[in-house]
Amino acid sequence: MLSDRINSLPASATLTMAAKARELKSQGVDIIGLSLGEPDFNTPEFIKDAAIQAVKDNYNSYSPVDGYADLKEAICSKFKRDNGLDYKPSQVVVSTGAKQSIANLCMVLLNPGDEVLLPAPYWVSYSAIATLAEAKSIIIPSSIETDFKITPKQLEAAITPKTKLVMFNSPNNPSGTIYTEAEYRALGKVLEKFPDIYILSDEIYELINYGKPHFSIAAIPALYDRTITVNGVAKAFAMTGWRIGYIGAPEWIAKACNKMQGQITSGANCIAQRATIAAVNAPVSEIQYMVDEFKSRRTLILNLLSEIPWY
Ligand SMILES: Cc1ncc(COP(=O)(O)O)c(C=O)c1O
Repeated sequence: MLSDRINSLPASATLTMAAKARELKSQGVDIIGLSLGEPDFNTPEFIKDAAIQAVKDNYNSYSPVDGYADLKEAICSKFKRDNGLDYKPSQVVVSTGAKQSIANLCMVLLNPGDEVLLPAPYWVSYSAIATLAEAKSIIIPSSIETDFKITPKQLEAAITPKTKLVMFNSPNNPSGTIYTEAEYRALGKVLEKFPDIYILSDEIYELINYGKPHFSIAAIPALYDRTITVNGVAKAFAMTGWRIGYIGAPEWIAKACNKMQGQITSGANCIAQRATIAAVNAPVSEIQYMVDEFKSRRTLILNLLSEIPWY
């Protein structure tokens, strides 16, 4: 009796794996879950303090659907400071996690049969959300030879008259690869020839970066008007459960996402929004200790892997 919509939707593979790991753990199995991209740190004290203050200041009412005005201002300053991007508050929509930001975008932009280009490997939810929007996912493979990045030639070959959206994710989940400015500019040259294609740039892992400069594809002037930059506080600030993500987008797209969200969830959690102001205003140095720790674990694993003999 369920709808075709839900029947065609795969269960979130990561959430299913995480549930399995939790179940095994509760049975006493010694298991390390590597499914969710979830920092094992506590949310930094200055962010918790901002949340406690918000409770005391009686932030308990519905917020504007697209987020508090001062949070959107803070997000615009972050985009300018870290990414060199000029967004006005009217171009920003705050959502219940970057996942909702991406779902909003797909629901407002895609029509049945539209094609969405997914450079692989990609975060599993992209294709599921595209399916929910009745669009077709077109996977563009990559390999270790190109550091798990697609080439301009591959991008151009995947484009058809039905292509509506391409989803980039840098730094990438799961590969960790990062597109350089030069690589994005080369891909941008292809996209310049196809003005009807939109670009989603998921930059949720922007700050978990071990030294390569981060580049936002929306900083390419010819692409700015059709790029939706997605970010959030889950990963860099150890705030996965607080559920705050956001977009910077052309105003007409932000307006449509606001309308969609207004009919589904309304504004994101008010306390988490207040805490997010503290997070996005903080200098990146405030969270460097977590990035340093992730980096040293990565080095450890790489060294251990290199000790395994190859036969
Ligand atoms: C690439 C990528 N984008 C978006 C998200 C979702 O972020 P949020 O927790 O803000 O919804 C994740 C979470 O795993 C992710 O890996």
